Amino acid sequence: MFITFEGGEGVGKSTQIRALFENLKEKGVDVVLTREPGGCLTAEEIRNVMLNSSVHLDVISQLFLVMASRREHYIHTIKPSLEQGKLVLCDRFIDSTFVYQGLDYFDDILYLHGLATGGLMPDITFLLDADPEITLSRMTQRGIENHMDSLDFQRHETLRTSYLSLATFFPNRIHIIDASGFPHETFAQIEKVVEKQFFSTR
Ligand code: TMP
Repeated sequence: MFITFEGGEGVGKSTQIRALFENLKEKGVDVVLTREPGGCLTAEEIRNVMLNSSVHLDVISQLFLVMASRREHYIHTIKPSLEQGKLVLCDRFIDSTFVYQGLDYFDDILYLHGLATGGLMPDITFLLDADPEITLSRMTQRGIENHMDSLDFQRHETLRTSYLSLATFFPNRIHIIDASGFPHETFAQIEKVVEKQFFSTR
């Protein structure tokens, strides 16, 4: 099974994916935690270029870099792990590309994604959703982590709207999780879906 986590900045994505990873390990599941951009040596190098604040990248160049990193990640981490029967948890995947590189490029993204991964889509995607008022105040407390992160209210609002409209394209795959409360409240919603879709089918 392949599970991805998505959401704008400050929604608590990394905390939740790590919590699910630990929870599944405790239950004896053979699970791999990975991320995009990144997830293998070459793809992490590409991530460094993408998130380097001194490099300005045009959106199409970003798209090619994301897809190069995805190809490497797919070959070296995702595909072998899935073939070994492992459950793969990935922090960001195709939906980040739709949202960050732009829904205007939907068909191009699908085509390039098909080339990079043979068309691999997640079985479950958790979209962590919270009001920008909340995500911005969390980020202000924590500080910005990379140059693609932003404290701009409008940008948070735009990312949120794009994610929510994307969820309407993939209603069976994308589960919208209310991430505005305490971390344990968010996690309870995630655990419920995994319980239903993973454990009940084993
Ligand atoms: P993260 O640490 O929150 O995962 O940050 C990774 C950044 O990479 C985030 O700003 C979104 C960006 N990104 C894209 O622009 N396109 C993509 O396809 C992916 C996976 C990430």
